[in-house]
Amino acid sequence: MARWFTALIRKRILETRLAGRPLGDILYPTYVRLYPFIFFMRSFEYEGKRYRYMFHPYGATIRGERIVEIPIALEALAAHSGQRILEVGNVLSHYVESEHDIVDKYEQAPGCLNEDIVEFRPMNPYHFIISISTVEHIGWNEHERDPEKAVRALFHMKNLLAPGGSMLVTMPWGENPDLDCHLQSPECIFDTLRYMQRVSWRNTWIPTTASALAMARYGKPYPFANVVVLGYLRRR
Ligand SMILES: C[S@@+](CC[C@H](N)C(=O)[O-])C[C@H]1O[C@@H](n2cnc3c(N)ncnc32)[C@H](O)[C@@H]1O
Repeated sequence: MARWFTALIRKRILETRLAGRPLGDILYPTYVRLYPFIFFMRSFEYEGKRYRYMFHPYGATIRGERIVEIPIALEALAAHSGQRILEVGNVLSHYVESEHDIVDKYEQAPGCLNEDIVEFRPMNPYHFIISISTVEHIGWNEHERDPEKAVRALFHMKNLLAPGGSMLVTMPWGENPDLDCHLQSPECIFDTLRYMQRVSWRNTWIPTTASALAMARYGKPYPFANVVVLGYLRRR
């Protein structure tokens, strides 16, 4: 038994090294297999509703904020079904089939328009715009860094809405300092901000308030986002 276990661990170390992943990932395949059993019964609360945590291999949801972002986003997508919907950043098509428009500058995927969102000029306005952990990358992880571009993109996205149309944008706190600064400023574009905070290594999340931002760090103590900001707005 001991020999079998040592051989298994050696094999895992070798596979992890060959794949160029950090050694901390050795246990990851085992964790992924156990995950449905661990998380099957678990759920989280958000805005007075209970959601099941999202278990999905795409984006390794069990490791980061996608575990809560995706269920919240899918609920919002379903609530607007039949309307003209735009997604900025190709995320949700990896989890569900949907007919909505998608703009993503770099990702090559069926149905995905490879345009810069700040230059995107559709023929007709949208009733709902959604964006999952993408805005913080705009102008920040692009070839030429433009720190103000993320906020410009938000204002441009708002202008793509029809009167009465609404927008939901999820943003990990601590990845893009200029965006974070905007979210705390009186000129913040959103009507409402909501906050979810990671509180355990088991990737448990709870609703929190803006007061959590002062201590929140990206990647600390838990990997990836420790607080996610959810911005809501309606175009009048
Ligand atoms: C976190 S990824 C989201 C998509 C990815 N499939 C995922 O699930 O992680 C952020 C995406 O933002 C897109 N992006 C970055 N700058 C952009 C811009 N200016 N306009 C539109 N999309 C942009 C990138 O192409 C990238 O795919």
